[in-house]
Amino acid sequence: MTSTYRRMLLASRPEGLVTSANLNLDDSAAIPSPGAGEALVKVHYLSIDPTIRGWMNDAPGYLPPIGLGEVIRSGGVGEVVESNNVDVPAGSMVFGMLGWQEYVIMTADAPFTVVPDGVDPTWVLSVFGITGLTAYFGLLDIGQPKVGDTVVVSGAAGATGSVVGQIARLSGASRVVGIAGSDEKCAWLTDELGFDAAINYRKQNVLAALGETCPDGIDVFFDNVGGEILDAALAHLAMKARVVICGAISQYNSDTPEGPKNYLALIMKRARMEGFLVLDYLDRFPEAQLKMFEWVLSGSIKHKEHVVEGLEHAGDALNLLFSGENDGKVIVKI
Ligand SMILES: NC(=O)c1ccc[n+]([C@@H]2O[C@H](COP(=O)([O-])OP(=O)(O)OC[C@H]3O[C@@H](n4cnc5c(N)ncnc54)[C@H](OP(=O)(O)O)[C@@H]3O)[C@@H](O)[C@H]2O)c1
Repeated sequence: MTSTYRRMLLASRPEGLVTSANLNLDDSAAIPSPGAGEALVKVHYLSIDPTIRGWMNDAPGYLPPIGLGEVIRSGGVGEVVESNNVDVPAGSMVFGMLGWQEYVIMTADAPFTVVPDGVDPTWVLSVFGITGLTAYFGLLDIGQPKVGDTVVVSGAAGATGSVVGQIARLSGASRVVGIAGSDEKCAWLTDELGFDAAINYRKQNVLAALGETCPDGIDVFFDNVGGEILDAALAHLAMKARVVICGAISQYNSDTPEGPKNYLALIMKRARMEGFLVLDYLDRFPEAQLKMFEWVLSGSIKHKEHVVEGLEHAGDALNLLFSGENDGKVIVKI
């Protein structure tokens, strides 16, 4: 084993997309030894999430900003290689906030989950992880779909959105419509995931297309994107609709994010718009993971992963989320 390891530090705060100037791949730190109750984890996979871009800003959020010179924060899966913690012997695979680095010390009080034997470690970052659970709680708890509903999802071919549409179908929605950024993504939604219709927002007029694909209006709009797409959906709400504000990826790189213009539709349609954070549901993760496990193993829920090789490419991997060039959950393999 070499005595030093690589870690990606925040060198400066990005304006817009992350560039190489914002990141510093440091290889000078010595691999640490675990103290009492600690374990040394070799990181294998990183979960690349849009929220990481937000943590790079010097702005208040649900977690503090990543400090300049600090390791980029992210979830990850790794193998315990040395342990002074009886709960995680050497050889265990663990999920936790491991960060963009090759090794990390897991302190005695760090929140972590042991990956059960037989479960593909990358699935713990995708369909059984944050994106799958975001889809589960956001749709079922906030969206509250009912049998016969029309459910529309933006960012529909992404890691979160693709699972939302499939859970909507399993919950008895009579119409599920996805909005995505390419014909290939739209075809995947309708041909393989069981969406009734898909709208390519780069080619079609979303406002008009929602009118055509949702003749009875939208009962649940699950929004991952914000901006003009949110406004188009608001214009088509059905009475008592629920608008789930999961994310607003079209606004994350802007210093002046724009809110919806069509919000008066909430009054006309006696509708509800509510944001949520999946971390609020930590104590219910096991319930959701069990259900997702059942759905995935039975083939009722399909998912894709987009694996990028190399810690040095983690910044490029993050940018894929914003260009739409990702084909499924973005994961970096170290
Ligand atoms: N509330 C929570 O607790 C929580 C937790 C996890 C994730 N989220 C949110 O969920 C959303 C999806 O995250 P994810 O990790 O599953 O990523 P993802 O959907 O796999 O990837 C992001 C997708 O967003 C689309 N996109 C990017 N820029 C866009 C733009 N300007 N306009 C329209 N679409 C755009 C791209 O798809 P196209 O090719 O279709 O453009 C891209 O593939 C994000 O908004 C994220 O912040 C929220």
